[in-house]
Amino acid sequence: MTQNYAGLQSVIWRGDKLDLLDQRLLPEEIVYLPLTTSEDVWEAIRHLKVRGAPAIGIAAAYGVVLGSRDALAAGEWLADVKKHAEYLATSRPTAVNLFWALDRMKAAADRFAGEGLSVDGLKEALTNEAIAIQSEDEATNRLIGEHALGLFKDDMGVLTHCNAGGLATAKYGTALAPFYLAKEQGMNIRVFADETRPVLQGARLTAFELQQAGVDVTLICDNMAGMVMSKGWVDAVIVGTDRVAANGDVANKIGTYSVAVLAKAHGIPFYVACPLSTFDLSTPTGAEIPIEERNAEEITEGFGKRTAPQGVKVFNPAFDVTPHEYVTAIITEKGIVTAPFEENLRKLFQD
Ligand code: MRU
Repeated sequence: MTQNYAGLQSVIWRGDKLDLLDQRLLPEEIVYLPLTTSEDVWEAIRHLKVRGAPAIGIAAAYGVVLGSRDALAAGEWLADVKKHAEYLATSRPTAVNLFWALDRMKAAADRFAGEGLSVDGLKEALTNEAIAIQSEDEATNRLIGEHALGLFKDDMGVLTHCNAGGLATAKYGTALAPFYLAKEQGMNIRVFADETRPVLQGARLTAFELQQAGVDVTLICDNMAGMVMSKGWVDAVIVGTDRVAANGDVANKIGTYSVAVLAKAHGIPFYVACPLSTFDLSTPTGAEIPIEERNAEEITEGFGKRTAPQGVKVFNPAFDVTPHEYVTAIITEKGIVTAPFEENLRKLFQD
């Protein structure tokens, strides 16, 4: 069934260390970094060696395992779990999957501690929790892909922004999952991948992983999306997200909002694909989602050489918010949600 998914795994648990695919080096080099401490994991998340909301959560879960593995007694172990979870939560602010995974690890640790396990038993149980987060993500993404594929037809053109693929998750991705499933079923979907300035996740990662899998992908610069849409080549847009607020506003890679506005202007549906772990119903609207700002060099020296004058003022938000009015539907593992989002998202979590 999965022979057309030729993806590299971004996070591999080896029992005594975490092998992490260094996504900064793709597509030119395939290098796995051996991570052995929670500090290694924090640094890998902060510096985008691992990126993409679900993959960040998975890596952080293993970071908690690594941070608490030297404890000699149950009390010390529980304190270490909490300490390293709090620490890893400071690595990046926007993707809620990070906090979701860390909260799940802390809750699991409390539960296991209450069961009176030995310290070795506690460590094993918590490792299994991290493994479960990773394997559930794979199953979830396959379901998202199945739901999303129902919206697409053979020979459609679909535009995506950033990388919400296998590299950003345990497998398949969210927004890219339907393309892999379409390939399995012999359908041809023509994908347009925005290069996604400033860090080029679209060019370096999306174009790479889709090409590896034999998916029909065409790379464009971000500022070409409007032109490509005006030619009638795009029948739908699908993107991932880092956090969905209670009213259906979605934060995703910077530039997503512009794509949504363009899609609306051209009468093209704008779909968002994500697991339930990406919803943050405690955040009322997109205005309250914390937006990470990254360093100026990503813009002024992103191509390996200086491309802007020294000392120029730079604004470099890593994400933007697309208001729910621009979102046609949110595709989850539990099905497809449409407006009114506030009401329908509440129902999604009640059922
Ligand atoms: O800064 P990044 O590369 O972590 O940003 C990633 C994105 O914006 C993705 O679209 C999002 O996390 C969804 S990944 C399934």
